[in-house]
This record gives sequence, C-alpha cells and structure tokens, in this order.
Amino acid sequence: MTLDIRPFDEAEIDEYHELRLALYRHDFPELPTPTREATVSTLSRHGDRLLWTARRDQRVVGKVSVLLLDDNEHLAVVDVAVLPELRRQGIGTALLDFVLPHVRDRGCTVVEGGYVKLDGPGGSWTRNRGFREVQSTILQILELGEVDRARWAVDTPEGYELVRWRGHVPDELVASYAEARRAIADAPWGESAEHPPDWTVERVRRIEVERREQGIDLRTVAAVDTHGTVVGLTEAEARPKDPTRLMQGDTVVLKAHRGHGLGVAMKAELLRWFTAEHGALEQAWTRTAAANTYMADVNHRLGFATVGRYGAVAGPIGTIGSEFRPIVGSDGGNPDCYAG
Ligand SMILES: CC(C)(COP(=O)(O)OP(=O)(O)OC[C@H]1O[C@@H](n2cnc3c(N)ncnc32)[C@H](O)[C@@H]1OP(=O)(O)O)[C@@H](O)C(=O)NCCC(=O)NCCS
Repeated sequence: MTLDIRPFDEAEIDEYHELRLALYRHDFPELPTPTREATVSTLSRHGDRLLWTARRDQRVVGKVSVLLLDDNEHLAVVDVAVLPELRRQGIGTALLDFVLPHVRDRGCTVVEGGYVKLDGPGGSWTRNRGFREVQSTILQILELGEVDRARWAVDTPEGYELVRWRGHVPDELVASYAEARRAIADAPWGESAEHPPDWTVERVRRIEVERREQGIDLRTVAAVDTHGTVVGLTEAEARPKDPTRLMQGDTVVLKAHRGHGLGVAMKAELLRWFTAEHGALEQAWTRTAAANTYMADVNHRLGFATVGRYGAVAGPIGTIGSEFRPIVGSDGGNPDCYAG
C-alpha cells in the first residue's frame, strides 16, 4: 500500500495531534499527554524545524521531523514516529529514507535522534537501522501544585548577588553573560556529535529578539560576583501556547565558583519568580545528561522527580536507514541485527 509523504500542512493539525496522543499513550505513558495547545506550541518552536507527515489510505500514520541546530551544520536531529498499530510494516524506515537526501543536501553528515527508549521499539528500530547510543539523558518534572515550596527558600551564597531579567540582558552584563554561557561545554555531552553553540553577544541579542517575536517569556537569574561579572546563570521559558509548562533552559556555574550552592540558589529564585507571576503553570520540565549527577541532585533538592530515562542515538549518513548493513561477526555488530 503506498505511503504519501508530504510537508506538514496546518490543515492537518488535528490529525497530527491525534498521532502525538497515540504515541504518548503507547510509548511514553510516564509523561502527561500533550494538550492540543502544546502540540501547536511544538510546531512553532524556535530553530529550523522541518516536518513531514505520512498518509496511507488518506490517514496520517507517521511523521518525521528534522531540527537543524545553530553552529552544527553537520548535524540533523531527526525524529521518526509511526502509529503503534501500524508498526513493523516498513513505515518508519520509509520515513527515515525519505528524509536522508534532504538533510544530505543541506550538508549534514550525521543524524541523531533524541528521545529513544532503548529497551523499547525505538531502541530496536534504531539499532537495526544503523544507529548507536551516544548519550543517555533523564527527564525531570516538578509538579508545581504539589511541591513543598519551602524547598525554594534558599539563601544567596556570600560574595554573590543574584540579578534577574526578563528577555533582555542588561548591557553592562551582556559580555560576561555570553562568556559564562560557554561553560555549558563542561556539561557531559557523551559521544553526541552536537557541539555547544558559539556564544557571542550577537547570538545572545539575536535569540532575545526571536523569543520576543514568538511571545515567549524568557527569564534569567544570574549570579554576579563582587567585580560585577556574571559567574553563573539559569534560565527558563514560558511559552504562550503551552501555558501550564515551564521549560528549563541552560544552567551553568563557572568552574571557579562551583560547590558554593549557586546552582540551587539561582534555580530556586527562578522558580519563585515564575510561579509568582504565571499562575497557570502546573509543571516545570528539565532534561539533563544522566551522567550529570550534580545537576540532577540540584533539581531533586528543589522538588523535581526523575520520570524517564532516554537514549540519544546517532549514525553517519550513508550507513543508516535501509542502507544499513550489519557487519556480522565484527565487534561493532549489534546482536539485535542478526535476529530474523
Ligand atoms: C521506531 C519506530 C518509528 C519504528 O517504526 P516502524 O514503522 O515499526 O519501523 P519499520 O517497520 O521500518 O522497522 C524496520 C525494522 O526495525 C526493527 N524493529 C522495529 N521495531 C521493532 C521492535 N518493536 N522490535 C524489534 N525490532 C524492531 C526490525 O528489524 C524491523 O524490521 P522487521 O519488521 O522486518 O523485522 C516506531 O516504533 C515508533 O514510532 N516508536 C516510537 C518513537 C521512536 O522511538 N522513534 C525513534 C526516534 S528517532
């Protein structure tokens, strides 16, 4: 039966949302199912995102999306998904094969997938299509209606001041803020091919404009030392079409200032500030490398619970999809590939 793969059209938003609901219920039962607004919000998300849907007999049966990241021209972050009841019929592979020439034409050499349950169908499929695990991540969620907010009553460590802003970094801090953001390179990246972006003042200002144009409430809490230099920061965003969910962004503390409690103090202040002004918020979400135990512990202290563990997988273009040929008997071969 033929598969009709076309660019996503806004007229199919309801069917696309139904597909997402089916996927969440089947593959991610640990997560709340997305609202229609949240689905719309993911569609308008920042970055260069390309999305196609696949139809069979007029019905939306799968999707593939590609996210192209700043300063990562070699990399395509791809997400393939198929209706649970129509799996093992080659639809997932057809979607991946369809998208590979598109990303190759854009100069990408590596494909990565982010949220894969390695012990589920996503893990079996990605291994059988030439991907290997490059990073393990955890998702942590804070239930804002249930948390004991006394956890957020944290003193600011001596010798530092917490400075906060909405949307626009104050001019006198922007240079050291951009510099501090580079410290995200210290986070464990596993074997992911993704490079941390090149943080410059221009990049900071460009992102501020993008967020403002999208109506996103982006807030930052920074730790500033006695010289007036930003030595740590944390940020989160509330998106207009996803009003119940706060999305945590980067948190960093420069090496020389770690171990003083700045991470907890900054994040606690950010939570106090957002929740005071966004009454509709129900949850805060954050994702971090499983190896990043310091960050995970900070989040636990503030009331976050770890709800899921996911793998990031990657493969070079030319060796993935239906082109993948396992090398039977070599050390690199995956036992799953010999099955059947
Ligand atoms: C991963 C996913 C897209 C696969 O879609 P699909 O249409 O079932 O995939 P295919 O039919 O092309 O599978 C091709 C091969 O992968 C392997 N495979 C796929 N699902 C498998 C499973 N559940 N168990 C074992 N092997 C599996 C098999 O070798 C299969 O070939 P076979 O059926 O001839 O044995 C689908 O399971 C899904 O939507 N999962 C949730 C989202 C996800 O994890 N996406 C991956 C992130 S990029």
